[in-house]
Amino acid sequence: MFPKLEGPISNRMKFQGKEVLTWSINDYLGLANLDEVKAVDAEAAATYGAAYPMGARMMSGHTDFHEQLQNELAAFVNKEASYLLNFGYQGIMSAIDALVSKDDIIVYDVDCHACIIDGVRLHMGKRFTFQHNDIESLEKNLERATKLAEQQNGGILVISEGVFGMRGEQGKLKEIVELKKKFKFRLLVDDAHGFGTLGATGAGAGEEQGVQDEIDVYFATFAKSLAGIGAFLAADQEIIDYLKYNLRSQMFAKSLPMIYVKGALKRLDMLRSRPELKAKLWENVNALQSGLKERGFDIGTTSSCVTPVYLNGSIPEAMALVKDLRENHGIFCSIVVYPVIPKGLILLRMIPTATHTLEDVAITLDAFSAIRERLENGTYKRLSAAVSAAMNE
Ligand SMILES: Cc1ncc(COP(=O)(O)O)c(C=O)c1O
Repeated sequence: MFPKLEGPISNRMKFQGKEVLTWSINDYLGLANLDEVKAVDAEAAATYGAAYPMGARMMSGHTDFHEQLQNELAAFVNKEASYLLNFGYQGIMSAIDALVSKDDIIVYDVDCHACIIDGVRLHMGKRFTFQHNDIESLEKNLERATKLAEQQNGGILVISEGVFGMRGEQGKLKEIVELKKKFKFRLLVDDAHGFGTLGATGAGAGEEQGVQDEIDVYFATFAKSLAGIGAFLAADQEIIDYLKYNLRSQMFAKSLPMIYVKGALKRLDMLRSRPELKAKLWENVNALQSGLKERGFDIGTTSSCVTPVYLNGSIPEAMALVKDLRENHGIFCSIVVYPVIPKGLILLRMIPTATHTLEDVAITLDAFSAIRERLENGTYKRLSAAVSAAMNE
């Protein structure tokens, strides 16, 4: 828990003084450590310091550059307008809070990210969950929601994600928007992992699935592909105008500092002008995912860069395994166990980036074969039993 990765953000970083091959950082396009990107960050820091502009956007925290970034983001994701958020987490919570009133009904995917769950908690009216990516379940819940909306004279907000970050599945946005023919609702999509990685231009899961126009409110964070801090909402001008005056996380909080605004403008420019970064990312994703499948690993139903590997084992075995991976194979990836996933399963979650090489992939595949063998021949069970015996002495 709370591991410290040190050194420049890249495919190889330091953990406990030793170099590790890092597969747990969402710097998908490898922008975080590029000299020309850091030069813009440094110049903005030198010119503006860390504070400018002071105050909330509506009061004294607005600048031409905030406006420029919003216009460029909106154009990039093919929407009329956009609005900046200081952090994705608070921002989307606040958006959910602003978009619904007590007579409205929220229908959301049960596997949505914590920020959506927390946003839904702010809602004073009814909410229904649908089974993860299950369109039949969504339809059933839309029937319930429609009845209620008619009685209450309210509306329906459906919430899903472009990419579900644990398992890597894309939200079934195409199927969800099909339901607009049968039901009246608006769709909010959190595309934190899709923005910059999916779609022909990198505009995300909506572009990838050909339904960007049908997403009523599009959300993405700068914390992944754009390797920064901040986030944005994009939608029709009318919706953005409404949100500007009703988003409590922006109305009552200091504006995004210029370092991040100028930094995001630069990163967005890189995203548009350097398609080879996304191409390299996908070369690595395809090599890693096909290599794992060829070796018989279960990578579930991912349809994005997020690469999960499911293994069978207990929590103590998972701990021994991850220690072996880090200390003996020099590989650092995130590990997820019960209660996030069912008991008896171990999920190793890998995030390929444009900074990885095919050699990194080959080393990792060999290491994964080795740890699977040790998991299956009981080495980790014995190791974890020995550790707990020693602790009980
Ligand atoms: C799906 C999803 N939504 C929202 C967020 C929150 O974004 P931020 O880090 O900008 O607060 C994250 C994590 O970064 C995420 O994975």
